[in-house]
Amino acid sequence: MTAPAARVVDAVKVYGRGDTEVRALDGVSVDFPAGRFTAVMGPSGSGKSTLMHCAAGLDTLTSGAALVGDTDLSTLDDRRLTLLRRDRIGFVFQAFNLLPTLTVAENITLPLDLAGRTVDRRRFDRLVDTVGLRDRLHHRPSELSGGQQQRVAVARAFAGDPDVVFADEPTGNLDSRSGEEVLRLLGRTVRDTGRTVVMVTHDPVAAAHADEVIFLADGRLVDRMTGPTADLVLDRMKAFDTGITTVPGGAP
Ligand SMILES: Nc1ncnc2c1ncn2[C@@H]1O[C@H](COP(=O)(O)OP(=O)(O)OP(=O)(O)O)[C@@H](O)[C@H]1O
Ligand SMILES: [Mg+2]
Repeated sequence: MTAPAARVVDAVKVYGRGDTEVRALDGVSVDFPAGRFTAVMGPSGSGKSTLMHCAAGLDTLTSGAALVGDTDLSTLDDRRLTLLRRDRIGFVFQAFNLLPTLTVAENITLPLDLAGRTVDRRRFDRLVDTVGLRDRLHHRPSELSGGQQQRVAVARAFAGDPDVVFADEPTGNLDSRSGEEVLRLLGRTVRDTGRTVVMVTHDPVAAAHADEVIFLADGRLVDRMTGPTADLVLDRMKAFDTGITTVPGGAP
């Protein structure tokens, strides 16, 4: 049992106040084990993005704790939090968030360049081969397909050798074939290099690429599934539609 790469403990996130108060997270505790690919699923509005943003230090919890490794994010001032995000966390978003004026190669190394870190040529080359973009390195994002752009975003997320990569619906804007490529890439990167990935998705087929799926409903962790298949995940999702949010043997 390895130590978690990231975790939240009794995480509560309340947006707004009074009549407009929303409890986006209502006491979630979950570990994201190192070297594992975890998918986060649940109905729209169940708190998936909120969980990811708070776990990644992009947003703060109302109460409870978010940790990356042994570092409690609430103990960091803004500057240290920014450094931790830059050096230890990678992000992949639904909209690829590439810089249009930079080439593929420049986009991939941007976080390292911003951090003033030297780019390890061998690591860079391996990353480029992993994402299959060798022949596109000097193109601009606008000259790439959506799937290729998302592969650039994946390479960028891993470029700084982060402890954990958080991906919020990374295949949401892709057709099923490009999406499949990106998912295989994420899975392969976890398995071949021992990286840690946490991915929010609506898609049972996408979730089946993960080692484990956690299910949120109404801001609570209601179930988890190891060794998911698309069919099992789909069955579990259907239970949400019928209002069954906990199942025997599921997490509390
Ligand atoms: N900045 C905000 N201000 C107020 N309420 C918010 C804010 N962000 C999220 N919420 C609310 O918190 C709840 C959880 O939102 P969140 O974005 O985490 O859901 P989600 O599970 O990611 O949904 P989706 O699948 O639609 O992306 C929702 O009810 C949402 O309306
Ligand atoms: Mg979301």
